[in-house]
Amino acid sequence: MRLEKHIALVTGAGRGIGQGIALALADAGADVAVADLDINIARETAARIEKSGRRSIALQVDVADPDSVNAMIEGAEAALGPLGITVNNAGVISIKSVGELTLEDWERVMQVNVRGIFLCTQAALRVMRPRGFGRIINIASIAGKIGFPDLSHYSASKFAVIGFSNAVAKEVAAEGITVNALCPGIVGTGMWRGEEGLAGRWREAGETEEQSWARHQKTLLPQGVAQTPADMGQLAVYLASAEHVTGQAIAVDGGFSL
Ligand code: NAI
Repeated sequence: MRLEKHIALVTGAGRGIGQGIALALADAGADVAVADLDINIARETAARIEKSGRRSIALQVDVADPDSVNAMIEGAEAALGPLGITVNNAGVISIKSVGELTLEDWERVMQVNVRGIFLCTQAALRVMRPRGFGRIINIASIAGKIGFPDLSHYSASKFAVIGFSNAVAKEVAAEGITVNALCPGIVGTGMWRGEEGLAGRWREAGETEEQSWARHQKTLLPQGVAQTPADMGQLAVYLASAEHVTGQAIAVDGGFSL
């Protein structure tokens, strides 16, 4: 599964899962554009890729803004060449019961997780379709296969990512373009760790964040340990290489969704 001569773009790649995927694509030989809302962390990932011998560029983007998304695609192609692989990874979460959710909470998650995936997919297809080649990988979640309490808005957004990816896969299947959803399980990024992460927010009385993180891994995951950004990178490299896998929503979750 080598990706030499391929140009890839990963959104939300300044840290966490997006960073793991960007590094894995570069390890497999691709040149990788690193896009993030936070340009400083995007630059750090891009510097690591360049150090490993591949070309890279850091781009600032807000995936919910159409002009920003179009500028990102143009910037990636101007710096690195024709884009063959896009990983639409940027996403946000918040934790509230359905009764507590404000319209603002709902819309923020939908803007980034759903509108962002739509805009990035559409903009990528604009350049991929005329060339008859493309690999689009949309990062969903196991929360896109199963509903979770206090995450109804997030689950709704990730179910949408899977449905959207499945439908678009059918639209472009005969044009050399695959579209898949990758569903991470539990990964110890900022989304889970820290006081504001899920491990911090879902603490039992007297429990530290570290203990809560250990408990969640043990009780939720059949394998007992969290997945890593590099695990997500492995599947992304596979999906970027595979010609006949499309319209799928594949979990990397240590059996969580079994
Ligand atoms: P993270 O919070 O560590 O990283 C998210 C990155 O996206 C950050 O660098 C952030 O600056 C960027 N970002 C946020 N809003 C953006 C916007 N509007 N435009 C551009 N970039 C933006 O999160 P993590 O854990 O790495 O999550 C990545 C993806 O994986 C998300 O789509 C998330 O929903 C999904 N996921 C994560 C899981 C986990 O256990 N960490 C589990 C299942 C899915």
